[in-house]
Amino acid sequence: MDTNVQKRRENKKSLRVKVISLGNAEVGKSCIIKRYCEKRFVPKYLATIGIDYGVTKVQVRDREIKVNIFDMAGHPFFYEVRNEFYKDSQGVILVYDVGLRESFDALDSWLTEMKQEMGSQANMENIIFVVCANKVDLTKRRVVDESEGRLWAESRGFHYFETSAQSGEGINEMFQAFFSSITDMCENGGKRPTPEVNVGFTKEQADTIRRIRNSKDSWDMLGVKPGATREEVNKAYRKLAVLLHPDKCVAPGSEDAFKAVVNARTSLLKNIK
Ligand code: GTP
Ligand code: MG
Repeated sequence: MDTNVQKRRENKKSLRVKVISLGNAEVGKSCIIKRYCEKRFVPKYLATIGIDYGVTKVQVRDREIKVNIFDMAGHPFFYEVRNEFYKDSQGVILVYDVGLRESFDALDSWLTEMKQEMGSQANMENIIFVVCANKVDLTKRRVVDESEGRLWAESRGFHYFETSAQSGEGINEMFQAFFSSITDMCENGGKRPTPEVNVGFTKEQADTIRRIRNSKDSWDMLGVKPGATREEVNKAYRKLAVLLHPDKCVAPGSEDAFKAVVNARTSLLKNIK
């Protein structure tokens, strides 16, 4: 065969991509990457200084993918080093520790930092995100449950995986889904393909469930001011009931949120004349 033709075919088959890891310090970003690339786990914490860079080759269907991995330091101290590495990423691994709520709450600010640094180039729609709920082996200290993490991820169109760099749980599955989605996106002209299966719930539903979980009392849960009238409580309740009724909402955690809203309304009405 003509060597040029052969070369062109090979080029079509091979692909270069850039992925980055994001998340608070010590959540396990480096360990997840090490578990996948080197099949081992290091229990001792060695903070990433600025950035670690590595290359790995993976096979997705008939294509060889050369993956450049930029493993970011989570510590705020390294912001200046990290910030220039956001650009031109096709994939982002967002990691939190299921035993540390603040690392889960921080995911939003990691997205904000990324958007800011990508500036005018920011098109988050054409990047594949995978969320790793990490350290699931430490079951006793778990504080962020699966439905909460999954809801946050899937309502944004991100993949969600429960992982443990220590035991290896979920790691290969996560990377396989991640690289396969990145390949699909590249084959789709760099645009994230519209998912074939709709997640079945809206961002409004997901955000409401999250707000209900984090509410401080029954007033707050219904979204009314303390001292609101019966009519105001009932109006707020009806709105939430329509949004979250288990017949209408399949978002993870919707049943519990619905029950909580029913209870909040009952207890408020008891005390309002
Ligand atoms: P920075 O580089 O500082 O941003 O941290 P990092 O997110 O890269 O964390 P790293 O991978 O270095 O892991 C932090 C600590 O958590 C280390 O002591 C790891 O051994 C431990 N660790 C990471 N993943 C797991 C896990 O799945 N289970 C358990 N039990 N420990 C883990
Ligand atoms: Mg690290």
